[in-house]
Amino acid sequence: MNPPSYGLAGVLGWPVAHSRSPKIHSYWISKYGLLGAYVQLPVAPGQLGLALPGLAALGFRGCNITLPHKVDALHLVDALDANAARIGAINTIVVQGDGSLKGFNNDGFGYIQSLLDAKPDWRADAGPVAVLGAGGAARAVVLSLADRGAREIRLLNRTPEKAQALANEFGAPVRALPWSQRHAALADVAMLVNTTSQGMQGQPALDLDLAALPLHALVSDVIYVPMQTPLLAAARQRGNATVNGLGMLLNQARPAFEAWFGVMPEITAELRRAIEAGL
Ligand code: ATR
Repeated sequence: MNPPSYGLAGVLGWPVAHSRSPKIHSYWISKYGLLGAYVQLPVAPGQLGLALPGLAALGFRGCNITLPHKVDALHLVDALDANAARIGAINTIVVQGDGSLKGFNNDGFGYIQSLLDAKPDWRADAGPVAVLGAGGAARAVVLSLADRGAREIRLLNRTPEKAQALANEFGAPVRALPWSQRHAALADVAMLVNTTSQGMQGQPALDLDLAALPLHALVSDVIYVPMQTPLLAAARQRGNATVNGLGMLLNQARPAFEAWFGVMPEITAELRRAIEAGL
């Protein structure tokens, strides 16, 4: 029998020093007794085309892709997972047996799993969903909700053309509504999702009046710094269940780890605490 080979993976972006991924993957490498490492790969804008072809030669099993390379990397891999093609960005590369690169996007998987972890009986078709924002995070969230059977997704974005373009691209059940209607659009929803940057550390709170939001609606924010955004705090205060973005971060890492190291890893309470402690 061959000795187990050393598994190498990393997070490729610019900057990457703030990334939580090394902590998450290193925890799993150690927990499952594997031989390997997950490292930072700081690659400046403009260097991506030189860096990616080197992955296989350096013995990497793959890497995560983060800002600002998520869209550019999609055009540089040899093959694309269908879901990544629909989202239009990749967050994971897997080096195939023949040395070619395949791109994946696990953000939608991570998002849905985070909802199910928090609320095992959660269903996408429980009622209308209001999604705020139409950037990269919104694309993964909206597509994954539609795939899970959401029947009506009200998409509201400060720049209306971007919400409309997304609705045109994805078709039913996505419907773009004017940003000015974001307060009223909450009436009768089963879920509200914030994918904008508002409420993130260093950013102002999202300007949203929750008065029309039903008390049974689930409120989700893809932000995890801080873990409780002003939106989630206000929602909790009035009695709505909430889910922050930490579960999405942790869950999107699982299929990538499995592809590189052959084990579908678990999100333990210990891992969650370790990541929370560093936020
Ligand atoms: P990400 O990839 O994290 O989604 P992004 O693509 O830069 O990041 O998208 C940021 C989202 O936050 C966009 O929907 C953006 O709205 P615009 O399309 O109008 O730019 C939204 N956003 C940023 N600042 C905002 C603000 N002050 N009020 C409302 N929405 C804002």
